[in-house]
Amino acid sequence: MLSKEFSPVSVHDCKALDLLATSVFMLDQNGCICWVNNAGQNLLERSARSLQGLAARHLFEESDVFAHAFDAILNEHFSSLGLLAGIQKTPGQNPEKLLVNVTLQRLSYTPWSVILELREIEQHTLAERNERLIKELEIYQETFRNLGHEVKNPLGGLRGAAQLLEMELGDPSLREYTQVIIAEADRLQELVDRLIRPGQGNLNLSLINIHEICERVWALLKAEYRDDITLVRDYDASVPEMKADMAKLLQAYLNIARNAAQSLMGSKIRDKPCITLRTRILNRHLLLNKIHRLVVVVSVIDNGAGVPEQLHDRIFHPLVTGRPDGTGLGLSLAQDFVRQHGGLIEFDSVPGRTEFRMLLPLENR
Ligand SMILES: Nc1ncnc2c1ncn2[C@@H]1O[C@H](COP(=O)(O)OP(=O)(O)OP(=O)(O)O)[C@@H](O)[C@H]1O
Ligand SMILES: [Mg+2]
Repeated sequence: MLSKEFSPVSVHDCKALDLLATSVFMLDQNGCICWVNNAGQNLLERSARSLQGLAARHLFEESDVFAHAFDAILNEHFSSLGLLAGIQKTPGQNPEKLLVNVTLQRLSYTPWSVILELREIEQHTLAERNERLIKELEIYQETFRNLGHEVKNPLGGLRGAAQLLEMELGDPSLREYTQVIIAEADRLQELVDRLIRPGQGNLNLSLINIHEICERVWALLKAEYRDDITLVRDYDASVPEMKADMAKLLQAYLNIARNAAQSLMGSKIRDKPCITLRTRILNRHLLLNKIHRLVVVVSVIDNGAGVPEQLHDRIFHPLVTGRPDGTGLGLSLAQDFVRQHGGLIEFDSVPGRTEFRMLLPLENR
């Protein structure tokens, strides 16, 4: 941000701002652009002349949010203000969207009322990584789904043939072998069914309180792990009700919580095993390249050994597991269910603290 002492009195004084990489705009008391530096023109791919006189709010996707911020500055509620916003780079049929950090600062004793700074948000952010992950997941799921359908039919035939064979067998001791075939076919069938299921079916939406889900998971963990794990509830009571598919979100949260419990039970740790179920609300949060006014964060935090380093990049892929008896479908299914709600599951993990969080946008729900 430019220093508060910065107080140009003429366009000539502003010339030094042309050397900056940050986009700088001088606005009059109506919020119209009077002057723009070179970086600003480059960012918007528009000339100074075409920008002069334009109301700055028209640059922004949420022009009312900018207008409110501008009023707050002008009416001296704040001397400077920062926000995250989306701008339309080139007007027309295919406008390119850009995410920027916006800073507004009131000016005194200058021909202009407010200085506006825009800084493009780094492209290699978490948001971009997440978007790549989602695309990867969609490809994986499609592949596995197709494979599942291919395996399903011959598997049914195999099981049926084993049953017929069993009926023809004179020696009952040989049935042990057909039973192995039938049991293994059933196990594979179950796996295939789980692979095919994600992504299918519409959301069964109703108005829910996210804490109902947390409480159900808490009760299930309590019943399963009794005194082995300390369970902490840390809820933000201000989280509003939301429209969601209760069963799918419950399944997603349970899969995450079970993983935490399994990790705690499977590794030796110094402290008493502990799981915290936490809810929070975020204002104006960037999620999958879109700014959401309200995002609910529902986390499971454990003090276990952490996610093995080699799994970090592909933990949400189907069939990726770090447990000998794991199928590696829990997180991929959970991610799929949360994605269907327009949200995302993220995680951070170091030995002693692992947090998996479901981020769920609230608007339009
Ligand atoms: N909280 C956690 N702490 C440490 N490792 C974790 C945690 N959560 C997940 N993992 C790792 O991620 C792997 C993948 O989890 P996922 O739920 O997808 O499959 P799974 O638990 O192995 O099998 P499934 O859930 O299908 O029975 C786990 O095997 C485990 O190694
Ligand atoms: Mg699991």
